[in-house]
Amino acid sequence: MKNILLGLFLVSHSIISFAKENNVIDPKADAIFTQYCSSCHGEKIEAFVDRKWKYGTSKTEIIKTITTGAVDAGMPSWKNTLSSKQIDNLAAQIVKSLANVDQYKFSSKPKTNVFQSGTMTLKLDTVATGFDSPWGITQLPDGQLLVTDRSGKLYKIDQNKQKIEIKNTPKALSKGQGGLLDVEIHPQYSANGWVYLSYSKFKEEAGSTWTTTALVRGKIVGDEFTESKEIFEANPYTKTTHHYGSRIVFDGKGYLYLSVGERGKHFEYAQGTDNDLGKVHRMYDDGRIPEDNPFYGKSPNSQTLFTYGNRNPQGLTQNPVTKEIWEHEHGPRGGDEINIVKNGVNYGWPTISYGINYDGKPITNLSKKEGMEQPLHYYLPSIAPSGMAFITGDKYPAWKGSLVIGSLRFNYLERVVLKDTKVIENHKELLNIGRMRSVKMGQDGYIYIGVENPGMVFRLLPSGK
Ligand code: HEC
Repeated sequence: MKNILLGLFLVSHSIISFAKENNVIDPKADAIFTQYCSSCHGEKIEAFVDRKWKYGTSKTEIIKTITTGAVDAGMPSWKNTLSSKQIDNLAAQIVKSLANVDQYKFSSKPKTNVFQSGTMTLKLDTVATGFDSPWGITQLPDGQLLVTDRSGKLYKIDQNKQKIEIKNTPKALSKGQGGLLDVEIHPQYSANGWVYLSYSKFKEEAGSTWTTTALVRGKIVGDEFTESKEIFEANPYTKTTHHYGSRIVFDGKGYLYLSVGERGKHFEYAQGTDNDLGKVHRMYDDGRIPEDNPFYGKSPNSQTLFTYGNRNPQGLTQNPVTKEIWEHEHGPRGGDEINIVKNGVNYGWPTISYGINYDGKPITNLSKKEGMEQPLHYYLPSIAPSGMAFITGDKYPAWKGSLVIGSLRFNYLERVVLKDTKVIENHKELLNIGRMRSVKMGQDGYIYIGVENPGMVFRLLPSGK
């Protein structure tokens, strides 16, 4: 019986949860939360509940906490302000929102490398192992893969799954979230051989180590990275070692896009147009600045800036139909976003956000503001997204047109079904296969996935319809 149940669990793992706009939020409880609770707990109940709970999560316990408070710790008692009916509604809503977090708590590690998704059977084919974090993956026209390891190394994986280290790549500061990050090839790679690498560049100054996101291009000759030339460096440098962003995308129209995080301490960098942090940048393939960039020639603004108000974008890809560039970015606690990158648009961080701070305190009480773009979709709780691809070609009929995103936090593949630019379904695929860092469509039509702890690269082999 136990085995049968396990089997059922493995074949029925593709869970559908519909987009949250038609969610279960009780408008009355929501309004009370906004009025009385949001100043300390943030605007969204769903963000508040994603915390380490201290006083219990049953409805009775929550009613007790709200009623009597934890006054010494700064949580007021609400018994003289709210009716017991209002407190009851609030507690009920909190319990419902907790179930929304629980949907990501998948029970066990997979027992097999075969997964089912609708009518498709998918096999994880291990292509390479022994990485710290396979951060960036791209495929060469001859089928070999280039894979960066955050530890600072670039590898070529040949058709026999041999892993060959490519020497002389730029020296990265492999600390925190830094290291050798994304890799991409030029759209005319066959003719010109250009390979692009993003990484955490660093310098020693005034007794401290300072880092930033930088982009180089070079060529691979034998097992060496040669003709290496820096084509972009984000300014200013900071002492923090996180939020590098760092995805590279070519749009096939001559532009190269690079995402850069706001570097995680001075959030306001993202709102400034006179620095390169918290932005998606657009440039030509050699780093020249396009004249139709929003701040071209408007010194002292960031000349490569294409969008701003971005927190830490670790997903960037081209929509194969509309040819627009799609981005996702990590929210703080809650509020990861999917956006379409548009010339000169401000995506709002940190002025607006659906998330709250890691310590549970609000960052802003605004999630919308005139002049700031709303995300296409946001995640509460945060799934911690990294890597993103649209499924193209005919190898995965049931997934065709889906947008797939790696989840670092919940160790699965998030598959988003879209109708134009509207998210209509969210599916959870490949449950518990590991902290998913990278997702890429290969030129051969296969999906490639990189996971951490342990660091491995998989090819997804489909069968069935
Ligand atoms: C003035 C700030 C403040 C306001 C306003 C506030 N809270 Fe709190 N709340 C806190 C603090 C601080 C804690 C954490 C207490 C602790 O850690 O001991 C807390 C804890 C809680 C907890 C317990 C969480 C756990 O870890 O067990 C609940 C439930 C809660 N608040 C609900 C509410 C609700 C509902 C409202 C609105 C009616 C509200 N709070 C308004 C500050 C506030």
